[in-house]
Amino acid sequence: MVEVDRKTFLATIPAGALAVMSHEDKAEELEHYMEEELDKKIAARRGEADGEAGSIITLDELEQERRAPRGTGNLFRPREDEFPPMPDKPTLLDFFRLRFAPANHVLQSATHALNTGQPERTVMACLMHDVVLNLIKVDHGWWGAQLVEPYVDERIAWGIRYHAALRFYPDEEYGYEYPEMYNRIFGHDYVPEPYIKEAYEYARKHRWYAEARLITVNDTYAFQDDMDVDIEVFTDIIGRNFKQPKEGLGYDNSPVAHMWRTIAFPNRPL
Ligand SMILES: [Fe+2]
Ligand SMILES: [Fe+2]
Repeated sequence: MVEVDRKTFLATIPAGALAVMSHEDKAEELEHYMEEELDKKIAARRGEADGEAGSIITLDELEQERRAPRGTGNLFRPREDEFPPMPDKPTLLDFFRLRFAPANHVLQSATHALNTGQPERTVMACLMHDVVLNLIKVDHGWWGAQLVEPYVDERIAWGIRYHAALRFYPDEEYGYEYPEMYNRIFGHDYVPEPYIKEAYEYARKHRWYAEARLITVNDTYAFQDDMDVDIEVFTDIIGRNFKQPKEGLGYDNSPVAHMWRTIAFPNRPL
């Protein structure tokens, strides 16, 4: 286990830079720092001058020993508190309040779409575009589309499916630049996998391209720590754009009912 001395770590960051760094930046920086420390410590233990990546045990393998895979959904990460109980016939609003909360990112994203006069369909798509991250993070565009498909206009599900691939490709016409944050998360030399590139190329030529592209545009406005949005604001839009099953989400025998039940009961090993 790498022990980090806060003072030593902070001393590695140039004076001045520290003041303007967000918590996320510091966390990111700390992670890099810890990875380097880990490299050094392992190299020293092996009597090597410098650890060579992948030589005996990879960093990834070590990481997995001490935390859940990074693609694990938020509801399945270790937590201190109990999940609040769900009503018998849960609605989408119940899921927002009891499982997706605080859901700031999607709420901010939908608010931006609403305030800039985008189609109601886009507002709805933005509201739902990342909620599946509570369940799983791997390929979240595909999972996310599937989660809502039986209940929304097919263009909404289509947009959610492809937004994840489109994030990595700028489009001047829509004012979408490659987000600087991705350089931090994925690294400057990140090249999307071939299947992501293919999905992008397919979507780019599709007549519904805008459905997915607009989600990425609203995505970039949705990381503001000084903005609070209540899901109540979207009650009417949800009413018009989400076919709430009368049996409750999870109990309507749809092909994705089990996904909603999994979100409702992350603690049930059945
Ligand atoms: Fe996303
Ligand atoms: Fe997003």
